[in-house]
Order: sequence, then structure tokens, then C-alpha cells
Amino acid sequence: MKKIGLVTAFVAGLVLCSPWNTHAQQGSGLAKLMNEKLNNSKKLLEGIALADYNRISNSAEELIQISRKAEWFVFKTPKFELYTNEFRRAAENIISKSKEKSIDGVTLAYFELTMSCVRCHQYVREVREARLPSHGAEFVAFQVKE
Ligand code: HEC
Repeated sequence: MKKIGLVTAFVAGLVLCSPWNTHAQQGSGLAKLMNEKLNNSKKLLEGIALADYNRISNSAEELIQISRKAEWFVFKTPKFELYTNEFRRAAENIISKSKEKSIDGVTLAYFELTMSCVRCHQYVREVREARLPSHGAEFVAFQVKE
């Protein structure tokens, strides 16, 4: 029993000290997640073009799962949450329209999804620009606005 305890402690130590815990590695986890996001939205578009409803709903479901991962929340702000909700709602809409085999409905929901990508990225750029040291004052104004 003592041995198992030791081994557990050793493994826990390894995990705690491992590079996965460093900021750089968290960054690459994020990049991987964002890449998966891009891949699944490409698959989704392919599915739409081919009216392949399985492909459509699978990639929309993947997108929802990706948005549930902890790394997704790069910014913990109400606006980021709002755009995340828009993103999920659009993906859910895609799934339900694909169950109805409505290609028009799916296409419209895909458009909503794309709008959520654009809007969230616009927000992310605004926050990043505002956080540059030379724009300190604007960041304060931005925070007040929120
Ligand atoms: C709720 C916010 C949000 C939504 C919605 C969103 N993204 Fe992103 N996306 C981000 C953030 C934050 C980053 C930047 C991550 C970082 O710091 O590198 C990002 C980065 C990316 C990148 C760049 C990855 C890289 O390697 O630099 C791509 C491509 C991307 N998103 C595609 C999409 C697509 C396609 C959609 C819609 C289907 C989408 N995103 C929806 C927040 C969002």
C-alpha cells in the first residue's frame, strides 16, 4: 500500500512539474483547440456543399464540444460568454436543421455561426489592441463601457 502511495505521489509530482503546466504549453493547447475549431468548420462547409447531414451534424457537435473546453475561455468576460453562446446556439441550430434535412435551414444557421466567428474575433482584436501599453487609457474606457 505504501508503495502505491509513493508511486501516486511520484506521478502527481510529474504531472505538477510537467511542461503542460507552463504558460507556453497552455498556449499550444489553445492553438490546437483553435485549429480543431477551424478544421471542424471546414468539414461543416464540406458537409453543407454535399448535403451530407451526418457530416454536418457531427462537425457541429464537435464545435459545441470544443467550446466547452476550459482553454476556450481565453477571456473571462461577459462579452466573450455572449459570443460563445451565439456560437453554440448557431451550432445547435445547424444540428436541428440537419435533422430536418433542411439544407436552407442549415445554410442559414451556418451563416449565423460564421457571424459569431467574425464578431468574437473582432472583440478579441479590440481587447488585444486595447491592452497594448500605448493604449492604456483606451483600455480603461473599454472596461468602463463593459
Ligand atoms: C467566443 C469567441 C470565439 C468564437 C465564437 C470563435 N473564435 Fe476563433 N478564436 C478565438 C480566440 C480568442 C482566438 C485566439 C486564440 C489565441 O490567443 O491565439 C481565436 C483564434 C482563431 C483562429 C486562429 C488560430 C491560430 O492558429 O492562430 C482561427 C483560424 C479561428 N479562431 C477560427 C474560428 C472560426 C472558423 C470560428 C467560427 C466557426 C471561430 N473561430 C469562432 C475566439 C473565438
